[in-house]
Amino acid sequence: MDKQTYYITTPIYYPSANLHIGHTYCTVMADAMARFKRLQGYDVMFLTGTDEHGQKIQTLADEKGVTPQQYVDDIVDGIKKLWATMEISYDDFIRTTESRHIKRVQDMFMKLYEKGDIYKGEYEGMYCTPCESFWTESQLVDGKCPDCGRPVTKAKEDAYFFKMSKYADKLLELFRDHPEFLEPETRRNEMVSFVEQGMEDLCISRSTFDWGIPVPIDEKHVIYVWLDALTNYISALGWPDDPEKFNKYWPADVHLVGKEIVRFHSLIWPAMLMSAELPLPKQVRGHGWLLLGGEKVSKSKASKGPDVIDPVILIDRYGIDALKYFLLREYTFGQDGVFTNEVMLRRMNFDLANDLGNLLSRTVSMIKKYCEGQVPAADTKDAIDEELINMAVSVADKVSARVDEFQFNLGLEEIWALIARANKYIDEKEPWVLAKDEGRKAELDTVMRNLAEVLRIVSILILPFMHTTSERMRDQLGLSDKEAVWEDAYEFYQMDGCNVEKGEILFPRLDIDKELEELGKIGAAAAE
Ligand code: MSP
Repeated sequence: MDKQTYYITTPIYYPSANLHIGHTYCTVMADAMARFKRLQGYDVMFLTGTDEHGQKIQTLADEKGVTPQQYVDDIVDGIKKLWATMEISYDDFIRTTESRHIKRVQDMFMKLYEKGDIYKGEYEGMYCTPCESFWTESQLVDGKCPDCGRPVTKAKEDAYFFKMSKYADKLLELFRDHPEFLEPETRRNEMVSFVEQGMEDLCISRSTFDWGIPVPIDEKHVIYVWLDALTNYISALGWPDDPEKFNKYWPADVHLVGKEIVRFHSLIWPAMLMSAELPLPKQVRGHGWLLLGGEKVSKSKASKGPDVIDPVILIDRYGIDALKYFLLREYTFGQDGVFTNEVMLRRMNFDLANDLGNLLSRTVSMIKKYCEGQVPAADTKDAIDEELINMAVSVADKVSARVDEFQFNLGLEEIWALIARANKYIDEKEPWVLAKDEGRKAELDTVMRNLAEVLRIVSILILPFMHTTSERMRDQLGLSDKEAVWEDAYEFYQMDGCNVEKGEILFPRLDIDKELEELGKIGAAAAE
């Protein structure tokens, strides 16, 4: 039987500057979900990419004295390197400057045009003559051009529009009949009231710059960003010329997006798809922002220090898994969360070095010392053993339920409750006391075996979130030849005879004060 498919996407990022920790947050969540679904046996398609057109890129390239293509190539290289460093498991990376995308965006334009949903009108906005840029009132800074700070004037230009207003009732119907289409609920309510206030048609072309996809019926215009950008989710699947791949994965199971772009994904995108007579994605999920001192972490605030938001620096110091764990464990999906060096270091130290790292190193050392390095077969069982075993084999279901709702923090909390229970189990059972009494060897063996089994289960449960740590744990547990399989997290008694091996410490303990000082210096240097 064919595997069930699961299609998940991240937004395509603007390659205007290097990415920061806020961007990695979304991609890390999508990666965790993709790995989780693969582990559960789905045929996963995980798409990410870059949104490369538009005036901003053109201006940045001009300032740097390079072509827009050279400008984006350089930044996209960096983005791909970052994802490779973080071992992000995307299946495809789409760039909006690729010919496969350009052609299909033009197909999309023609589809909407032939449906009678595109018309030529006049776009009115605030115009900065030296920058040749249109701005909306809300984009202006003190009433002036946000790029050069010079005065702007009201101006008009010819532009093509998409008849968004025509789809208002259908969108309300969508939110009413399929509330699961947009999560969380707060975002849904915002969108419903937005539509109810009356929707304007969407301007989808520009003629004041040319870094974009040409409008197929009018060479003076380029397609303006959102029609270009949103189409990536199906152009990467080969729509309309590769129906096999498209039909296999479309409709997407989920578009994961930041809260400020929920509107584009839950109103404009479905309206475009309705117009093109294509099925709608099953779900849009809007996540919150990482904040720095109360403000969104953003490219322009990338160098204010002392908090270090360059993921490359953080990975260099603490490793991929520590950073991913922190992002997934610390923040509640849908809400904003504050980022500081200290919040991050505390998480890494307490949960990773203390709780998980300790449990593994203590267990492996004891099995080495008391059982000649081999997980013993043992069959004594008291109420405490029973409680631990029952807890261990029931965590997978709890994790599944949480992760399916994108509540990664609560899923990880379930796993860490088991880790805490196992650490407490050691204190309760006092194996060092059992070891002194020959007559209690069977009890000692049971404790060793139970701890090893719990760690094996943990190594499966954490795989989607920290795959390298999972592998390192399995090496030390003598499981390197055995593939981690989700179903095995529901079973105890799989490790008789496994030979444990002491390995490198999973997460070195951090001296938080010293680290804070170091990170503070790095952050301050970046701010100069
Ligand atoms: N190019 C558009 C998306 C088009 S999707 C068809 C875009 N790009 S972006 O680079 O500006 O942002 C990409 C994503 O990064 C957004 O979902 C945004 O919410 C997310 N983040 C940017 N800063 C962030 C934080 N500080 N915190 C969390 N996410 C953040 O928008």
